[in-house]
Amino acid sequence: MTGPRTITLAFTGASGMPYGLRVLECLVKAERRVWLTYSPAAQVVAKQECDLVLPTQPREATRLLSQRYGAREGQLTVFGREDWMAPMASGSNAAEAMAICPCTMGTLGAIAGGLADNLIERAADVMLKERRPLVLVPRETPLSTIHLENMLKLARAGATIVPPAPGFYDHPQTLADLVDFVVARVLDQLHVPHELGPRWGEGRGDTGPLPGTQSA
Ligand SMILES: Cc1cc2nc3c(=O)[nH]c(=O)nc-3n(C[C@H](O)[C@H](O)[C@H](O)COP(=O)(O)O)c2cc1C
Repeated sequence: MTGPRTITLAFTGASGMPYGLRVLECLVKAERRVWLTYSPAAQVVAKQECDLVLPTQPREATRLLSQRYGAREGQLTVFGREDWMAPMASGSNAAEAMAICPCTMGTLGAIAGGLADNLIERAADVMLKERRPLVLVPRETPLSTIHLENMLKLARAGATIVPPAPGFYDHPQTLADLVDFVVARVLDQLHVPHELGPRWGEGRGDTGPLPGTQSA
C-alpha cells in the first residue's frame, strides 16, 4: 500500500457535503483506516444537501456509514466531537494525514488561532505541530480579508488549502464529475491513489527515447 494507512477525516458545516462523503467513500475503497468526526453544523448541512441523517451517537454513525460505504469491521470509526480520548487528539497516536472537507470559515479560523476547542480543531492542531499533512477544503464566497489571512497563516504553518473549485476543461457532464474533480485533488494531497478522472497531459508523455538519442 502506498500513502497513509490511517486518515482522520472531518466534516464541518460548510456547503459541499457531497465532497466530504465522496472522500469518505474513496478512502474506504482505497482500503484506508478512517477516523471520522463531524460537527453539529455538518449534520445540518448533510441533511440539507444530501438528505442524509448523520447520527449524533458515534457507534450508530460508525454502523450506518460502514454499511453505506462497505467498510470492513474496524476500518471506519466515528468519534464524538468532544471525545478527548480519541487517538487523533494526541500526537502520540495521530493519523498519518488529515482532511477537513468541507471546512467552514469558523473551523478554519479556530485552527488558525490554535483554539483546539473540539476534537476537529485539536486533531488539526496536532497535525500541524507534528508536521503531518493537513488538507483543508474551505468553502465561502466571497472571501473576507479575515478568511484570506487565516488561510495564508495555515498554509504557512504547513496546511494545504484545496478550494473546492472544479475545472471545466475535462467537460464535466454531471454533478458527480464536478465532485470527483475536487475529490481527486484532495486524495492527491493525501497521497492516496485513485482513478477519478483523467490527468492533465495523459497520453501525451512520450515514453520512448528523447529526440536525437535514438540509435540508427
Ligand atoms: C446549509 C448551510 C450551509 C452553510 N454553508 C457555509 C459555508 O459554505 N461556509 C461557511 O463557512 N459556513 C457555512 N455555514 C455556516 C456554518 O455551518 C456555521 O458557521 C457553523 O457555526 C460552523 O460550525 P462548524 O465549523 O463547527 O461546523 C452554513 C450553514 C448551513 C446550515
